[in-house]
Amino acid sequence: MIAVSALAAACGTERISVPDTAANRPFYEGAVLFSQRCAGCHTLSYAATHGSASNVRTAQANNGPNFDTRCERPVTRVLYAIENGGFSGAIMPQNVVVGKQAIDVAEFVAKYAGRETETSDTPGSVPCMDKPIGAIPPPPG
Ligand code: HEC
Repeated sequence: MIAVSALAAACGTERISVPDTAANRPFYEGAVLFSQRCAGCHTLSYAATHGSASNVRTAQANNGPNFDTRCERPVTRVLYAIENGGFSGAIMPQNVVVGKQAIDVAEFVAKYAGRETETSDTPGSVPCMDKPIGAIPPPPG
């Protein structure tokens, strides 16, 4: 059974891997929303999405950052990106999700992004929680 599900994952039928328990419900709902609304442009394997470019040569302008390897925290910063369309406001659409849905997605991303670096054996890789939080840029104009 394990071998079968590993094969299935490789074929792109990967499942959301955030536990759907009562305590974890907002994160699970955030992951479901992420897989529905953000998947086209962002990779985050906890939500089973692979929208980021895997090869710079074939990358398209709207390929967003890969959140398996990129830390995104805290929640307010992710919410800022959702409301403003990334940090530049140039490519990512604004308010893909709003209200409580935006908060669920932001909490999910802030909690689960960057985990691949934490588990990586690469010497010198810094765990997400030890990385400094970047400043939220001032609004354009
Ligand atoms: C049409 C493609 C597209 C969609 C859909 C999209 N994004 Fe993005 N996103 C981008 C691009 C491109 C960037 C980086 C460029 C920029 O900041 O302008 C980005 C940047 C971000 C950033 C900032 C990352 C950083 O460190 O610079 C966050 C956080 C983010 N997106 C979250 C989301 C979430 C959550 C959703 C779904 C609600 C979403 N995005 C939907 C394309 C997209």
